[in-house]
Amino acid sequence: MISMIVAVSKNRVIGINNTIPWNIPKDRLWFKKHTLYKTVIMGRNTYESIGYALPYRHSIILTNTIKNIHSSTISIVNTVQNALLLLDSSKEHLVIGGAQIYKLFFKYTKRLYITYIDLLVHGNIFFPNFNLENWYTIFIKYYCYNKINLYFKILERK
Ligand SMILES: NC(=O)c1ccc[n+]([C@@H]2O[C@H](COP(=O)([O-])OP(=O)(O)OC[C@H]3O[C@@H](n4cnc5c(N)ncnc54)[C@H](OP(=O)(O)O)[C@@H]3O)[C@@H](O)[C@H]2O)c1
Repeated sequence: MISMIVAVSKNRVIGINNTIPWNIPKDRLWFKKHTLYKTVIMGRNTYESIGYALPYRHSIILTNTIKNIHSSTISIVNTVQNALLLLDSSKEHLVIGGAQIYKLFFKYTKRLYITYIDLLVHGNIFFPNFNLENWYTIFIKYYCYNKINLYFKILERK
């Protein structure tokens, strides 16, 4: 099964200049909790913004420019189909961004782990618009960090 995990502002911003425009430890813990020991799928920009192979996870990186990365936990692919071929359908795999990769994998995604950050944020990378009516909420938890309201949600496709 393919799932997606993203933290998104009120105006759908997810990134600025190849970084994430906030630093919220609780959100990093949420990300870790839901990705650990799973396969994570990301674009080359997101991989470069992280800067290293995420520990205890198998990373699939989509790129047409990088041919090889010397890491036993990283697979490089140049198409969505080649990424899908690497996935065991009996397990959950997480698409972790960025915007280009969220867009490509959205139609395959059955579950969304979304952190809604209740702020208008300046940025240049956005999560694709999608119709909430096609999803139902199976989990929601409110959290406040430095006066910022956050909603951790898990949605499943109807
Ligand atoms: N808030 C969040 O939860 C969150 C999560 C993740 C990322 N982000 C942010 O999102 C931003 C990065 O997103 P982005 O949209 O710029 O980049 P991205 O989706 O991470 O990566 C884009 C790259 O993926 C490769 N790619 C795209 N489509 C492909 C295809 N069909 N086949 C093969 N390779 C393909 C290309 O790499 P090549 O150019 O090498 O070919 C492309 O340049 C950063 O600001 C990051 O911090 C935010």
